[in-house]
Amino acid sequence: TLHWHGFHLPAYADGGPHQIIKDGATWSPQFEVKQRGSMFWYHSHLPPVTGPQVYQGLAGLIYVDDEETGRLDLPNEYGVDDIPLVLQDRTFDDDGSLFYSGMMMGVMGNVMLVNGSLNPYLESKSQKLRLRILNGSNARFYSLGFSDARLFSQIGTDGGLLERPIDVSHISLAPGERAQVIVDLSDGRPVVLRAVSSGSGPVGSEQVFDVLRIQPDLERARVAALPSRLVTLDPPDPAQAIGTRPFVLGMGMTINGKRMDRNRIDETVRLGTTEIWEMSNTSMVPHPFHVHDVQFRILDRNGSPPARNERGLKDTVVVNPGERVRVLLSFTDYSDPYLPYMYHCHNLEHEDTGMMGQFVVTG
Ligand code: C2O
Ligand code: CU
Ligand code: CU
Repeated sequence: TLHWHGFHLPAYADGGPHQIIKDGATWSPQFEVKQRGSMFWYHSHLPPVTGPQVYQGLAGLIYVDDEETGRLDLPNEYGVDDIPLVLQDRTFDDDGSLFYSGMMMGVMGNVMLVNGSLNPYLESKSQKLRLRILNGSNARFYSLGFSDARLFSQIGTDGGLLERPIDVSHISLAPGERAQVIVDLSDGRPVVLRAVSSGSGPVGSEQVFDVLRIQPDLERARVAALPSRLVTLDPPDPAQAIGTRPFVLGMGMTINGKRMDRNRIDETVRLGTTEIWEMSNTSMVPHPFHVHDVQFRILDRNGSPPARNERGLKDTVVVNPGERVRVLLSFTDYSDPYLPYMYHCHNLEHEDTGMMGQFVVTG
């Protein structure tokens, strides 16, 4: 199967576990792209082999542009000053083949592949770089920052740009999450983007990975200052919701006490409505909760507003042990009483173990 992660689309095109592409077969879904520009991705989605298939390479990126974003004075020359970075940790056997341990708690590697390559290096011809980063790892969480601790600006989340750039020294990305950042190289100094991983939970094999070595070129193009205002997002209004749907992320890779059953629809949502989904984590490890079809907004974590760089469009949100996270989602455009969308933990081994449920949107 091939799923379009982050896309708003009809269920028949979603590429979930029901849309199997047999050996030698071709699957040609079509859908209209009705959402803001951002960086999305696609990957295999066939439990219990999503983890191994993605690990072997069945994943890739999709850039979506829109007019509002295109008008902004942001670096946007693909491969020159607008660089995608797909972070995937891997372990290799002695003979150089990929080693997939199959660990149910989450498969973690000891080397970092970035866009499929080892030790990448970039000579930047531009004073400012826009990096679009995807944590495409099976299970590792990362905290990303630069070797000299310089500040940088986060300008986007999973599904689009933030309202304004936010200065940060680090950003966290769980499996499935994306961010867009701008780094300023006007001091001319070489710098390394690093990822610190504490593993996939509280007990982890902490490891530091070099993600990208950046060498500013002597003849760097000067660029405009970062716009102070990027896009306008409506403030999420919980009063629009018709109700709250609870999801308990529990021990034993369960959601609401159940493991995934392809023949069971867990939730039914009505087209044209807005809902609050409330995820509570009663287990011992964090889970990145992902929902198909919609970009949502985070309302609060344990009752407190989310960090400023989490106030954009999201399709994946980390729920830490003991935490209760509320998000606001609107179901517009597509309904299908039979074909479901998925919600699940984006630790791919948790997902493969059954930490997933199905919802339909009915007209
Ligand atoms: Cu990125 Cu249901 O997946
Ligand atoms: Cu998805
Ligand atoms: Cu999980």
